[in-house]
This record gives sequence, C-alpha cells and structure tokens, in this order.
Amino acid sequence: MPFFQPPVTPLPKGISLRGQTAIVTGASSGIGLDIAQQLLELEAATVILAVRNVAKGEAVRRSLLARESVKKANPKAVVKIIKLDTEDYESVQTFTKTFLAEHSELHVLMLNAGIGTLKRELACTGHEKNVQVNYLSNVLLLLELLPLLTATADKTGSPSRVTWTGSRMHGATALAKKAPLKADETVLAHFDSEESFIPFARYADSKLLCVLFLYELPKHLNSDKVIVNSFCPGMVDTGMSDVLPIYLRIPVSAVKALRARSPEKAGWIALHAALVAGPESHGQLLADKEVAEPAAYVQSADGQKVQKMLWNETVDEMAKLTTVPVWMTKV
Ligand SMILES: NC(=O)c1ccc[n+]([C@@H]2O[C@H](COP(=O)([O-])OP(=O)(O)OC[C@H]3O[C@@H](n4cnc5c(N)ncnc54)[C@H](OP(=O)(O)O)[C@@H]3O)[C@@H](O)[C@H]2O)c1
Repeated sequence: MPFFQPPVTPLPKGISLRGQTAIVTGASSGIGLDIAQQLLELEAATVILAVRNVAKGEAVRRSLLARESVKKANPKAVVKIIKLDTEDYESVQTFTKTFLAEHSELHVLMLNAGIGTLKRELACTGHEKNVQVNYLSNVLLLLELLPLLTATADKTGSPSRVTWTGSRMHGATALAKKAPLKADETVLAHFDSEESFIPFARYADSKLLCVLFLYELPKHLNSDKVIVNSFCPGMVDTGMSDVLPIYLRIPVSAVKALRARSPEKAGWIALHAALVAGPESHGQLLADKEVAEPAAYVQSADGQKVQKMLWNETVDEMAKLTTVPVWMTKV
C-alpha cells in the first residue's frame, strides 16, 4: 500500500436492502458506525447494533435515526441494540439467543468489533484478549448464526453474507520471525502464553488467525448459501489508536492526518465486500475492493501448517461451546 492511499469510490447506485435484516458488531464507533449508517441508507429494514456498551449504543441508535439521510431513505427503519461483549463467550451466546428469539431472518452479518491492545491481558475465557475479541468470539458468532443465515438464503434464493473487518497487518505476525511456534505448542496455547506476547505484533497475530480460518473455510463450506469474506480498509481515521501510549499517539495522529481514510470510505469498502463482491470473494480477504494475494507467511510451509492446526484447534474449542456443523471436519 503506498503512503498516500488510493481514492475509493462509493457503492454503485441501485442497491436496496429493503426488507433485510443486518447485524453490525462494534457499531458504536468508527467503521462499524458508518457501516450501520450506510446499511440504513440502503433501506435495510432492521439493523442490529451489537455493542458492549448499551448506553453508548442507545445514543448511537438515536443519532442514526435522527440523520436526514436515514430519515429520507428509510423512514420506517428499525434500529435495535443488543448487548454483545466479544471478550466473553457467554455474552456471545446470550446475544445470539436474544437475536434468534426475536428474528426469523438474517441477511447480512458484519463481524467488525475489534481491538488492538499492547498490554497482555486475559479475557475471562482464559484466552489472550486480542485473540478472543478479534478471532475466537467471531467464529462462535458465525457458527451460531449460520443456520439462520442459511435458512434466509433458502427463502430469498440468494446467498446471505458474512463480512469480517480484517487487516493487511496480519502479514506482520510475530509467528513469522519474532515468536515462531515451538514444536510442542498448539496455536491457541502459543498465543495465550506470556512468552509469545509481542505487544506491537499481537494485533497482527489476531488478524492472522482470522484470515487463516477464512482461507481454510471454503475447503469445507461452499458459497451457495452463505458467502463469507473479509476486507481491509487500509488506514482509517478512528479511535482505534487511542490505546497507544502518548509518545506514539502523537506521531500516529500526524500520519493519520496525512493518509488515513474517513470511516465513511471504509464503510464503502466494507459494503462492497458484503453486497457487491460475489462468490469469488468467499474465503478471501479483499484489500480495499480487490481479492488480496495471501501474505508471504500464509503461503509459507509454516503458515500452511499453522492454518491446519488452527482449524483443528478451533473445531475443538467450538465443540465445547456449541454444536459444530457437520461440514466443520478436522483436517
Ligand atoms: N482503523 C483502522 O485503520 C483499521 C484498519 C484495518 C482494520 N480495522 C478494523 O476495523 C474494526 C473496527 O475498528 P475501528 O477502526 O472502527 O476502531 P474503533 O472505533 O475503536 O471501533 C472498534 C469497535 O469495536 C468495539 N469493541 C471493542 N471491543 C469489543 C468487545 N469486547 N465487544 C464488543 N465490541 C467491542 C468498540 O466498542 P466501544 O465503542 O465500546 O469501544 C467499537 O465499537 C476492527 O476490527 C479493526 O481491527 C481498523
């Protein structure tokens, strides 16, 4: 990606989500908030804001419904808040239970909530937080909502959509050099261990897990009923870098001022992946709007081995929590 990021174009005219239901995780700020707004402007009937802070979500809901663009395009829009804290599997399960009890269709699932923290902390699940929030809970969400996404595709006759907010940064994983997997380690145990925590690589590590899962997925699940893809919007001007120490926040803010895209443009890229890209994007990461070449680490023998190990470990992890679908066999 060049320093000055190339221009991005809006979505093509004529897309309508009339009658459709969408979920956006992490919709309380940044890219997720713009995704929610744009879904409403495209006439989605119901948009669920899946947020960890319900009070913040309520304020966002009111502000979305008060926007002229939303009032004009979608005066009957329904925007609901359902609490979701992806640090905690229990919260994911409560979220899906609540959603499934109230809704009989799901057309679009935007797995967007994410963090990039520099301090090692464990989530209540025992897994390192970045890995829990950015990877593991998203797999559980996907598996628990997949039956409804599939049933919705049966009704509409076209595939439902799952789009994961990813990052080109995944290529900078510590697995490549700084903290390679040891011979006797599992992938998840490696990322949970204190020894392997490299603060400035952990965000990349967690996003790597997402793409490795995604690249393995089409070998098991075809795109007939549900297209699952991911996109990287480049550098975007959001509050994500607020977690950085002040001595880094200042230079990062200067770089952001020069090159970062607006959340609105990131929303265009996100909804291109979710609504415009076709089956060719199933199991792929889109860099902006184009299918990306897998990163060098992903293509390496180590990367391929870790991809398979991660898949098998994810099957075991999910089996403790939910009914693992029959297609999700070990490799
Ligand atoms: N900004 C970039 O340059 C960039 C580039 C590539 C990819 N991304 C990805 O884009 C996604 C959105 O990030 P952003 O840039 O828009 O940053 P952001 O403004 O910080 O948004 C992150 C969102 O995730 C939510 N979130 C964080 N932890 C959560 C949890 N445990 N449970 C539920 N929600 C949680 C946040 O909720 P709160 O409002 O409660 O904090 C917020 O709504 C992330 O996946 C990020 O990795 C960002």
